[in-house]
Amino acid sequence: MFFQGKQKSPIAWLGGKSRLATEIVQRMPEHHTYCEPFCGAAWVFFRKQESRVEILNDINRDLVNLFRCIKHHLPALVDQFKWMLVAREQFDVFMATPAETLTDIQRAARFYYLNKTAFGAKVKSPTFGVAASQPPRLNLLRIEEDFSAAHLSLHRVQIENRPYAQVIDRIDRPDTLFYIDPPYWDCESDYGTGIFSKTDFIALAAQLADIKGKFILSLNDTLGVREVFSAFQFTEVRTRYSISAAAKREVGEVLISNFTPA
Ligand SMILES: C[S@@+](CC[C@H](N)C(=O)[O-])C[C@H]1O[C@@H](n2cnc3c(N)ncnc32)[C@H](O)[C@@H]1O
Repeated sequence: MFFQGKQKSPIAWLGGKSRLATEIVQRMPEHHTYCEPFCGAAWVFFRKQESRVEILNDINRDLVNLFRCIKHHLPALVDQFKWMLVAREQFDVFMATPAETLTDIQRAARFYYLNKTAFGAKVKSPTFGVAASQPPRLNLLRIEEDFSAAHLSLHRVQIENRPYAQVIDRIDRPDTLFYIDPPYWDCESDYGTGIFSKTDFIALAAQLADIKGKFILSLNDTLGVREVFSAFQFTEVRTRYSISAAAKREVGEVLISNFTPA
Protein backbone atom coordinates (compact mmCIF):
# COMPACT_ATOMS: atom_id res chain seq x y z
CA MET A 1 0.00 0.00 0.00
CA PHE A 2 1.44 3.37 -1.02
CA PHE A 3 1.45 5.73 1.97
CA GLN A 4 0.23 9.16 0.98
CA GLY A 5 0.59 10.54 4.49
CA LYS A 6 3.41 12.99 3.83
CA GLN A 7 2.03 14.40 0.60
CA LYS A 8 0.89 17.98 0.10
CA SER A 9 -1.73 19.27 -2.24
CA PRO A 10 -0.16 20.86 -5.32
CA ILE A 11 -2.31 23.98 -4.89
CA ALA A 12 -3.52 26.39 -2.24
CA TRP A 13 -7.27 26.82 -1.97
CA LEU A 14 -9.66 29.07 -0.10
CA GLY A 15 -10.90 27.02 2.86
CA GLY A 16 -8.19 24.39 2.19
CA LYS A 17 -7.69 22.09 5.17
CA SER A 18 -3.88 21.98 5.25
CA ARG A 19 -3.89 22.79 8.98
CA LEU A 20 -6.75 20.49 9.94
CA ALA A 21 -5.94 17.53 7.68
CA THR A 22 -3.98 15.47 10.21
CA GLU A 23 -6.70 15.83 12.88
CA ILE A 24 -9.35 14.72 10.40
CA VAL A 25 -7.31 11.75 9.15
CA GLN A 26 -6.75 10.55 12.74
CA ARG A 27 -10.51 10.32 13.24
CA MET A 28 -11.21 8.24 10.14
CA PRO A 29 -12.77 4.79 10.64
CA GLU A 30 -11.97 1.70 8.54
CA HIS A 31 -13.48 1.90 5.07
CA HIS A 32 -13.22 0.45 1.59
CA THR A 33 -14.21 3.46 -0.53
CA TYR A 34 -13.14 7.03 0.21
CA CYS A 35 -14.95 9.97 -1.36
CA GLU A 36 -14.61 13.76 -1.15
CA PRO A 37 -17.69 15.35 -2.82
CA PHE A 38 -16.26 18.89 -2.26
CA CYS A 39 -12.58 18.12 -2.79
CA GLY A 40 -11.11 21.59 -3.53
CA ALA A 41 -7.34 21.20 -3.20
CA ALA A 42 -7.98 17.86 -1.41
CA TRP A 43 -5.56 18.45 1.47
CA VAL A 44 -7.13 15.67 3.52
CA PHE A 45 -6.94 13.20 0.64
CA PHE A 46 -3.23 13.92 0.12
CA ARG A 47 -2.48 13.41 3.83
CA LYS A 48 -4.32 10.12 4.30
CA GLN A 49 -3.34 6.56 3.62
CA GLU A 50 -4.50 5.18 0.28
CA SER A 51 -7.94 3.54 0.31
CA ARG A 52 -9.01 0.66 -1.94
CA VAL A 53 -11.28 2.94 -4.01
CA GLU A 54 -10.95 6.74 -4.08
CA ILE A 55 -13.20 9.38 -5.63
CA LEU A 56 -12.56 13.13 -5.72
CA ASN A 57 -15.26 15.49 -6.93
CA ASP A 58 -15.64 19.24 -7.21
CA ILE A 59 -17.95 21.49 -9.19
CA ASN A 60 -15.03 23.71 -10.25
CA ARG A 61 -14.12 22.60 -13.76
CA ASP A 62 -10.62 24.18 -13.77
CA LEU A 63 -9.62 22.47 -10.57
CA VAL A 64 -10.88 19.06 -11.69
CA ASN A 65 -9.15 19.53 -15.05
CA LEU A 66 -5.83 20.20 -13.29
CA PHE A 67 -6.12 16.96 -11.29
CA ARG A 68 -7.04 15.06 -14.46
CA CYS A 69 -4.05 16.46 -16.35
CA ILE A 70 -1.68 15.62 -13.47
CA LYS A 71 -3.10 12.09 -13.57
CA HIS A 72 -3.12 11.55 -17.36
CA HIS A 73 -0.74 14.08 -18.99
CA LEU A 74 2.09 14.64 -16.54
CA PRO A 75 5.01 15.22 -19.01
CA ALA A 76 2.90 17.45 -21.31
CA LEU A 77 1.77 19.54 -18.36
CA VAL A 78 5.32 19.95 -17.03
CA ASP A 79 6.38 21.02 -20.54
CA GLN A 80 3.99 23.97 -20.42
CA PHE A 81 6.23 25.60 -17.81
CA LYS A 82 9.45 25.45 -19.86
CA TRP A 83 10.80 29.00 -20.21
CA MET A 84 8.03 30.48 -18.12
CA LEU A 85 8.74 33.21 -15.55
CA VAL A 86 6.93 34.49 -12.49
CA ALA A 87 5.92 37.85 -13.93
CA ARG A 88 2.94 40.17 -13.85
CA GLU A 89 2.92 40.22 -17.67
CA GLN A 90 2.46 36.45 -17.83
CA PHE A 91 -0.22 36.66 -15.14
CA ASP A 92 -2.07 39.31 -17.18
CA VAL A 93 -1.82 37.21 -20.37
CA PHE A 94 -3.37 34.23 -18.58
CA MET A 95 -6.07 36.41 -17.00
CA ALA A 96 -6.97 37.82 -20.43
CA THR A 97 -7.16 34.34 -22.03
CA PRO A 98 -10.59 32.71 -21.68
CA ALA A 99 -10.12 29.17 -20.33
CA GLU A 100 -12.66 27.83 -22.88
CA THR A 101 -10.31 28.72 -25.77
CA LEU A 102 -7.51 26.47 -24.45
CA THR A 103 -6.78 22.75 -24.62
CA ASP A 104 -7.16 20.86 -21.34
CA ILE A 105 -3.39 20.89 -20.79
CA GLN A 106 -3.05 24.62 -21.50
CA ARG A 107 -6.06 25.24 -19.28
CA ALA A 108 -4.49 23.28 -16.43
CA ALA A 109 -1.22 25.24 -16.80
CA ARG A 110 -3.13 28.55 -16.75
CA PHE A 111 -5.11 27.55 -13.67
CA TYR A 112 -2.01 26.34 -11.81
CA TYR A 113 -0.02 29.46 -12.69
CA LEU A 114 -2.81 31.80 -11.53
CA ASN A 115 -3.34 29.78 -8.36
CA LYS A 116 0.36 29.92 -7.44
CA THR A 117 0.99 33.56 -8.30
CA ALA A 118 -2.27 35.18 -7.15
CA PHE A 119 -2.36 37.03 -3.86
CA GLY A 120 -3.88 34.72 -1.22
CA ALA A 121 -4.67 32.12 -3.95
CA LYS A 122 -8.02 33.86 -4.43
CA VAL A 123 -10.57 31.85 -6.40
CA LYS A 124 -12.69 34.82 -7.53
CA SER A 125 -10.95 37.85 -9.15
CA PRO A 126 -7.32 36.89 -8.43
CA THR A 127 -4.63 39.62 -8.43
CA PHE A 128 -0.88 39.16 -8.96
CA GLY A 129 0.90 38.89 -5.60
CA VAL A 130 4.35 40.38 -4.92
CA ALA A 131 5.85 40.20 -1.41
CA ALA A 132 9.05 41.67 0.01
CA SER A 133 9.15 39.06 2.77
CA GLN A 134 8.94 35.77 0.87
CA PRO A 135 9.69 34.22 -2.52
CA PRO A 136 6.81 33.43 -4.91
CA ARG A 137 4.84 30.26 -4.18
CA LEU A 138 5.42 29.17 -7.78
CA ASN A 139 8.83 27.46 -7.80
CA LEU A 140 9.47 26.76 -11.47
CA LEU A 141 12.43 24.51 -10.65
CA ARG A 142 10.25 22.17 -8.60
CA ILE A 143 7.28 21.85 -10.95
CA GLU A 144 8.25 18.35 -12.09
CA GLU A 145 8.77 17.02 -8.55
CA ASP A 146 5.58 18.64 -7.25
CA PHE A 147 3.41 17.30 -10.08
CA SER A 148 5.08 13.87 -9.93
CA ALA A 149 4.35 13.58 -6.20
CA ALA A 150 0.71 14.51 -6.81
CA HIS A 151 0.57 12.08 -9.75
CA LEU A 152 1.57 9.20 -7.44
CA SER A 153 -1.41 9.95 -5.21
CA LEU A 154 -3.84 10.61 -8.05
CA HIS A 155 -2.99 7.79 -10.42
CA ARG A 156 -5.81 5.48 -9.27
CA VAL A 157 -8.32 8.12 -8.22
CA GLN A 158 -11.62 8.60 -10.01
CA ILE A 159 -12.06 12.31 -10.59
CA GLU A 160 -15.59 13.68 -10.99
CA ASN A 161 -17.03 17.10 -11.83
CA ARG A 162 -20.64 16.92 -10.58
CA PRO A 163 -22.87 18.60 -8.00
CA TYR A 164 -22.10 17.04 -4.58
CA ALA A 165 -25.56 15.43 -4.09
CA GLN A 166 -25.23 13.24 -7.19
CA VAL A 167 -21.84 11.97 -6.08
CA ILE A 168 -22.94 11.17 -2.53
CA ASP A 169 -25.91 9.29 -3.94
CA ARG A 170 -23.85 7.30 -6.41
CA ILE A 171 -20.91 6.39 -4.17
CA ASP A 172 -22.80 5.60 -0.96
CA ARG A 173 -22.34 2.03 0.35
CA PRO A 174 -22.05 0.62 3.87
CA ASP A 175 -18.24 0.69 3.59
CA THR A 176 -17.92 4.18 2.08
CA LEU A 177 -16.34 7.02 4.04
CA PHE A 178 -17.15 10.56 2.89
CA TYR A 179 -15.07 13.52 3.92
CA ILE A 180 -17.44 16.43 3.32
CA ASP A 181 -16.05 19.96 3.19
CA PRO A 182 -18.62 22.39 1.77
CA PRO A 183 -18.23 26.19 1.72
CA TYR A 184 -18.32 27.65 5.24
CA TRP A 185 -21.62 28.84 6.70
CA ASP A 186 -22.18 32.48 5.61
CA CYS A 187 -19.52 32.07 2.85
CA GLU A 188 -21.75 30.08 0.46
CA SER A 189 -20.83 32.06 -2.67
CA ASP A 190 -17.04 32.19 -2.07
CA TYR A 191 -16.45 29.70 -4.91
CA GLY A 192 -18.86 31.21 -7.42
CA THR A 193 -22.48 32.21 -7.60
CA GLY A 194 -25.34 29.77 -7.94
CA ILE A 195 -23.41 26.63 -6.96
CA PHE A 196 -24.13 26.49 -3.22
CA SER A 197 -26.58 28.25 -0.89
CA LYS A 198 -27.99 28.05 2.66
CA THR A 199 -30.69 25.65 1.47
CA ASP A 200 -27.93 23.26 0.41
CA PHE A 201 -26.94 22.84 4.08
CA ILE A 202 -30.49 21.67 4.83
CA ALA A 203 -30.55 19.37 1.79
CA LEU A 204 -27.11 18.01 2.71
CA ALA A 205 -28.17 17.27 6.30
CA ALA A 206 -31.26 15.43 5.02
CA GLN A 207 -29.19 13.43 2.52
CA LEU A 208 -26.58 12.51 5.13
CA ALA A 209 -29.27 11.31 7.55
CA ASP A 210 -30.14 8.62 5.01
CA ILE A 211 -26.74 7.33 3.86
CA LYS A 212 -25.54 3.79 4.48
CA GLY A 213 -21.88 4.80 4.80
CA LYS A 214 -20.04 7.03 7.27
CA PHE A 215 -19.11 10.69 6.98
CA ILE A 216 -16.96 13.37 8.55
CA LEU A 217 -18.11 16.90 7.73
CA SER A 218 -16.10 20.02 8.63
CA LEU A 219 -17.64 23.48 9.05
CA ASN A 220 -17.22 26.69 10.99
CA ASP A 221 -18.81 26.57 14.43
CA THR A 222 -21.94 28.72 14.10
CA LEU A 223 -25.46 28.57 15.49
CA GLY A 224 -26.84 27.77 12.04
CA VAL A 225 -24.49 24.80 11.63
CA ARG A 226 -25.33 23.51 15.14
CA GLU A 227 -29.03 23.72 14.33
CA VAL A 228 -29.07 22.23 10.81
CA PHE A 229 -26.78 19.29 11.70
CA SER A 230 -28.13 18.72 15.23
CA ALA A 231 -28.95 15.06 14.48
CA PHE A 232 -25.22 14.18 14.31
CA GLN A 233 -22.19 14.07 16.62
CA PHE A 234 -20.09 17.22 17.02
CA THR A 235 -16.38 17.47 17.87
CA GLU A 236 -14.86 20.92 18.37
CA VAL A 237 -11.43 21.67 16.88
CA ARG A 238 -9.40 24.86 16.66
CA THR A 239 -7.65 25.89 13.49
CA ARG A 240 -6.40 28.93 11.60
CA TYR A 241 -7.60 29.98 8.19
CA SER A 242 -4.91 28.82 5.79
CA ILE A 243 -5.16 31.64 3.25
CA SER A 244 -4.81 35.40 3.58
CA ALA A 245 -2.23 36.78 6.00
CA ALA A 246 -4.85 39.17 7.36
CA ALA A 247 -7.03 36.28 8.41
CA LYS A 248 -4.39 34.33 10.37
CA ARG A 249 -6.53 34.11 13.47
CA GLU A 250 -7.85 31.17 15.39
CA VAL A 251 -11.34 30.10 14.43
CA GLY A 252 -13.65 27.49 15.90
CA GLU A 253 -14.43 24.61 13.60
CA VAL A 254 -16.53 21.55 14.13
CA LEU A 255 -16.19 18.03 12.80
CA ILE A 256 -19.62 16.49 12.43
CA SER A 257 -20.07 12.76 11.95
CA ASN A 258 -22.59 9.93 12.01
CA PHE A 259 -20.29 7.75 14.18
CA THR A 260 -18.16 8.27 17.28
CA PRO A 261 -14.72 9.34 16.03
CA ALA A 262 -11.57 7.66 17.38
C1 LIG B 1 -14.09 24.42 1.55
S1 LIG B 1 -13.70 24.06 -0.12
C2 LIG B 1 -12.96 22.47 -0.02
C3 LIG B 1 -11.55 22.57 0.51
C4 LIG B 1 -10.78 21.27 0.49
N1 LIG B 1 -11.22 20.34 1.51
C5 LIG B 1 -9.28 21.52 0.62
O1 LIG B 1 -8.63 21.01 1.55
O2 LIG B 1 -8.75 22.25 -0.22
C6 LIG B 1 -15.28 23.78 -0.81
C7 LIG B 1 -15.29 23.28 -2.25
O3 LIG B 1 -16.65 22.97 -2.59
C8 LIG B 1 -16.81 23.18 -3.98
N2 LIG B 1 -18.25 23.28 -4.24
C9 LIG B 1 -19.08 24.32 -3.98
N3 LIG B 1 -20.35 24.02 -4.32
C10 LIG B 1 -20.32 22.75 -4.80
C11 LIG B 1 -21.34 21.87 -5.29
N4 LIG B 1 -22.62 22.25 -5.39
N5 LIG B 1 -20.97 20.61 -5.65
C12 LIG B 1 -19.67 20.22 -5.59
N6 LIG B 1 -18.67 21.02 -5.14
C13 LIG B 1 -18.99 22.27 -4.74
C14 LIG B 1 -16.03 24.45 -4.26
O4 LIG B 1 -15.67 24.55 -5.62
C15 LIG B 1 -14.82 24.29 -3.31
O5 LIG B 1 -13.70 23.77 -3.99
